[in-house]
Amino acid sequence: MTSLTLALSKGRILEDSLPLLEKLGLAPAGDIDRLLRVPSQDPNVHLVIIRPADVPTYVEHGAADLGIVGKDVLMEHGGDALYEPLDLGIAQCRLSIAAVKGSPFAQPGPLAARKRIRVATKYPEITRRHFAARGEQVEIIKLYGSMELAPLVGLADLIVDLVATGNTLKANGLVETEIICQVSACMVVNKASMKMKHAALRDLLTRMQSLGA
Ligand code: ATP
Ligand code: PRP
Repeated sequence: MTSLTLALSKGRILEDSLPLLEKLGLAPAGDIDRLLRVPSQDPNVHLVIIRPADVPTYVEHGAADLGIVGKDVLMEHGGDALYEPLDLGIAQCRLSIAAVKGSPFAQPGPLAARKRIRVATKYPEITRRHFAARGEQVEIIKLYGSMELAPLVGLADLIVDLVATGNTLKANGLVETEIICQVSACMVVNKASMKMKHAALRDLLTRMQSLGA
């Protein structure tokens, strides 16, 4: 039988993936809090549990045949080297621009009249592309978390961050000025695996699709 390695994004996406894995008979058969490589209930499928931002790299290089990753992470990484056959519809949120409520930056629309806009984000590539597509040059400040703090302490004028309920923005006195894109977790597949392990991958993807993923 063909053996498959499935890379899972640690954290929020892993939590949302577990019910799906359960339904597919691929639930982890080991301690996912400790082990980085865990067998699944299917003896032919192994799971690797890694940082979300590493999933596209593992799958691209064939260290995993397929992976579950947020579209935000995939867009930032660049997805050309991977197949993206399925939107799993889990971990839904959106990537948005936000500013301090009542500030001049809280008005939606072009930034043309304003100078040297600073945007704090974990997503420098997506941010650069988004503003460049509108002909706007911004200074991008790369952060690794808690983006909402940046405009409050004068580090940035705007942030580009994930929004789900909007509670974090609201609690920090920020408002969403523009949605860049909708985000959910998707399945990505290594291109060589798709050829070499076609039958096993097709079977798995078809079963996922029939679950409404
Ligand atoms: P790391 O530890 O590597 O920095 P992280 O803290 O970004 O990872 P999580 O927040 O657990 O990891 O999960 C990140 C992914 O979950 C995002 O890439 C996105 O696809 C999704 N996500 C993030 N925030 C939300 C949210 N509020 N609601 C739904 N999905 C979200
Ligand atoms: C994510 C995101 C926002 C928050 C949005 O952060 O970066 O801060 O969720 O969700 P909400 O609109 O429902 O409030 P997370 O909780 O992953 O923490 P982080 O800042 O460490 O990434």
